[in-house]
Amino acid sequence: MTWRGALIGCGFFARNHMHGWQDAEGADIVAVCDIDRGRAETFARDFGATPFTDAQEMLTAIRPDFVDVATTVETHRPLVELALASGALTICQKPFAASWPDALAMVEAADRAGRPLLVHENFRWQHAFRLVRAEIEAGAIGRPSFARLSFRHGFDVYANQPYLAEVEDFGLMDMGLHLFDLARFLMGDVASVACHTQRLNPRIRGEDAFTALLGHTDGGVSGIDCSFFAKTTPDPFPETIARIDGPEGTIEVGVGCRIRVHTRDGVREIDGDPPVPAWGTRPWHFVQDSVAAFEAHVVDVLDGRAEPQPSGRHNLETLAITLACYRSAARRETVDLAGFIAAGCPR
Ligand SMILES: NC(=O)c1ccc[n+]([C@@H]2O[C@H](COP(=O)([O-])OP(=O)(O)OC[C@H]3O[C@@H](n4cnc5c(N)ncnc54)[C@H](O)[C@@H]3O)[C@@H](O)[C@H]2O)c1
Repeated sequence: MTWRGALIGCGFFARNHMHGWQDAEGADIVAVCDIDRGRAETFARDFGATPFTDAQEMLTAIRPDFVDVATTVETHRPLVELALASGALTICQKPFAASWPDALAMVEAADRAGRPLLVHENFRWQHAFRLVRAEIEAGAIGRPSFARLSFRHGFDVYANQPYLAEVEDFGLMDMGLHLFDLARFLMGDVASVACHTQRLNPRIRGEDAFTALLGHTDGGVSGIDCSFFAKTTPDPFPETIARIDGPEGTIEVGVGCRIRVHTRDGVREIDGDPPVPAWGTRPWHFVQDSVAAFEAHVVDVLDGRAEPQPSGRHNLETLAITLACYRSAARRETVDLAGFIAAGCPR
């Protein structure tokens, strides 16, 4: 069985989506849509699909089994609601929503439609972090008590994504939620949030650095730091450097996706660097690989072999952590996450 899909938003990152879908067995993107006709036609030509400039028109004409929404955040809610109402399994790129009411509305729309809603959170699908999670599950270091996730670079992200220089909520909304989802994947759910934000690059509008402390429900802690204005040579972009400590040992993820598992028996090295996809290029290959891995997972969900990872409902907490960071930074206080969510995540 091949599931028929439609993509909405033929922009910078969606090109990776399209290559990933071509690699996914059991899925075929038959239609693409962009309000910019030229972009829709270019994708249609490059990937063999029918172009549209209106999402509703495309959904009515094509009746896809699944819809991949790859636009920027301000259009997520209307497009996700349209896709779900058409009866399609729906995927939404991150950031899922800019506000708590928008995120809740999309989750409720999925419940009403009775269709799965997934958020394209690909960091947890990076090969190295799948291997780290497998080590944790196998008990290599015991139950983790501490994680450090660090994403610091000086790469010019504004060249491919000029909107990032203009948005008021930048670092936390663009990268924070990836890292918070990863922290939940490795360390479990979160009970408290404290954060400090900085705007280091004077030419951009929002915060481009943050340092966050997550208290996990089981007593573990994660320290998460990110900077888009950190200069080292070679620049590690787009790698996440990690360390996870447990009572029996430590797992490190270093540059080049090199994993080192320290236990009382010594140090074991694991190569966490995935092959470069035929359509990919270093140093983006492990991100491109994670997109393909996520999309293969979507086919498993369509086939009924897997539960969405992460679902829209699961991603609510990740968004709440992100919004709690803004509140914490503004008030210089630690935010109790359950209370913050109960209050509707006020900024
Ligand atoms: N997961 C990741 O690793 C990753 C990496 C980069 C970007 N992203 C996310 O991907 C999303 C898209 O980013 P981008 O840089 O590709 O943006 P982009 O601006 O290059 O592309 C967005 C496209 O959506 C189109 N669009 C807007 N409204 C539309 C509508 N109503 N119907 C149809 N098309 C519409 C625009 O014309 C544009 O072509 C963002 O939310 C970004 O955060 C994720």
